[in-house]
Amino acid sequence: MNIVIRKEKEKDYKNIFKVNKLAFGQEDESRLVEQIRSTDNFIPDLSLVAEVDNNIVGYILFSKIKILGSSIFDTLALAPMAVLPKFQGLGIGSELIKEGMEKAKELGFNSIIVLGHKDYYPKYGFKKASGWKIKCPFEVPDEAFMAIELSDKALEDKAGIVVYPDEFMETD
Ligand SMILES: CC(C)(COP(=O)(O)OP(=O)(O)OC[C@H]1O[C@@H](n2cnc3c(N)ncnc32)[C@H](O)[C@@H]1OP(=O)(O)O)[C@@H](O)C(=O)NCCC(=O)NCCS
Repeated sequence: MNIVIRKEKEKDYKNIFKVNKLAFGQEDESRLVEQIRSTDNFIPDLSLVAEVDNNIVGYILFSKIKILGSSIFDTLALAPMAVLPKFQGLGIGSELIKEGMEKAKELGFNSIIVLGHKDYYPKYGFKKASGWKIKCPFEVPDEAFMAIELSDKALEDKAGIVVYPDEFMETD
């Protein structure tokens, strides 16, 4: 199976909506993507699709968020990430996340925050955000709120609370 990871194009919007809807079994995440796209937090280079035989089967988005601590620190939120049910467990999610992290690094971002499956993201190096004293603004299980440093000690001394833009709070 040949998996191609590429930047989204405008003509992909409909299929991206579908992939998220089918993967999550609801439209909240599809709508979150549309809302983030309409803000300054959207980074076109970090909105990636996975294609198999020219069909979009997976999607990942990283967008700008902040950590509010002793100062304001710019970081990325990984959300959402989705693979069509029929294509799950084939390594597509893995390709998306690795390519996304590589691209994020190239663009100069040095950390990522994710709220998600506690057994999934640690495969890619994510650790509990609480280890850096980085908190979620709403109640979540400690193991589900994770972060990764893309450069050495990027999150050292970045203790604080993550500020999610309004679009996240509307759908989560
Ligand atoms: C989570 C998701 C994006 C993973 O994509 P995927 O293409 O199925 O993942 P991969 O095939 O690359 O899986 C890589 C590894 O993670 C494991 N894995 C997949 N989903 C997992 C989950 N929810 N929890 C724990 N491990 C998981 C796989 O078994 C595989 O393990 P291995 O490398 O030891 O064999 C996909 O399952 C999905 O769309 N799920 C529904 C939507 C969702 O939950 N999105 C994430 C929100 S946090």
